[in-house]
Amino acid sequence: MNISRNFMLLGSAFLIVGIVIGMYMGGSGDHSLALSHAHINLLGFVLSAVFALTYKAYPAMAEGRLASAHFWLHFVGAIMVNLMVFLLLAEIITEAGMVPLAPISEFLVLLGVLAFGWNVLQNAK
Ligand code: HEM
Ligand code: HEM
Repeated sequence: MNISRNFMLLGSAFLIVGIVIGMYMGGSGDHSLALSHAHINLLGFVLSAVFALTYKAYPAMAEGRLASAHFWLHFVGAIMVNLMVFLLLAEIITEAGMVPLAPISEFLVLLGVLAFGWNVLQNAK
């Protein structure tokens, strides 16, 4: 898999959604989705873009299984956690309704970042 391209595509999709929510907030004056907007843009776009550029800068990092594990963990985890936060702030689900999917998805993001960190230690030379 082309890990850099995949992370960039994932990030771009998040950015489109994040900006649409930002525009909605700006237009409506209702800023209750601000935290969702922030994490879609930061956890979704900014992190994915940084990952994409890192895998491009250190090609050795992009080769092994750690990289694809990281991509899929971030793909599933970041989409799920952002969806849960959006549903919570839009008052479609309650805080109790966040369990267990939100903590599981946060854990997936964390596992992905651990794989990334380990990969940096091994291959970012
Ligand atoms: C056209 C694009 C965008 C629009 C119209 C927009 C609009 C907004 C609005 C209306 C708020 C709420 C402000 C408040 O209640 O204090 C906000 C907050 C925020 N935005 Fe954006 N935004 C845009 C792009 C971005 C991007 C690209 C990022 C990050 C890469 C970003 C990061 C944030 C953060 C971190 C907050 C603070 C959230 C919080 O206070 O909890 N925004 N934005
Ligand atoms: C799974 C990962 C993450 C989780 C579970 C998480 C959770 C949280 C929580 C609970 C808050 C406080 C919300 C509140 O004030 O009510 C917060 C705020 C914030 N987070 Fe995250 N976060 C994550 C990842 C990130 C990342 C990767 C970034 C930036 C690259 C980020 C940037 C921020 C910012 C800027 C705020 C402050 C927003 C504000 O109060 O205006 N977060 N996050």
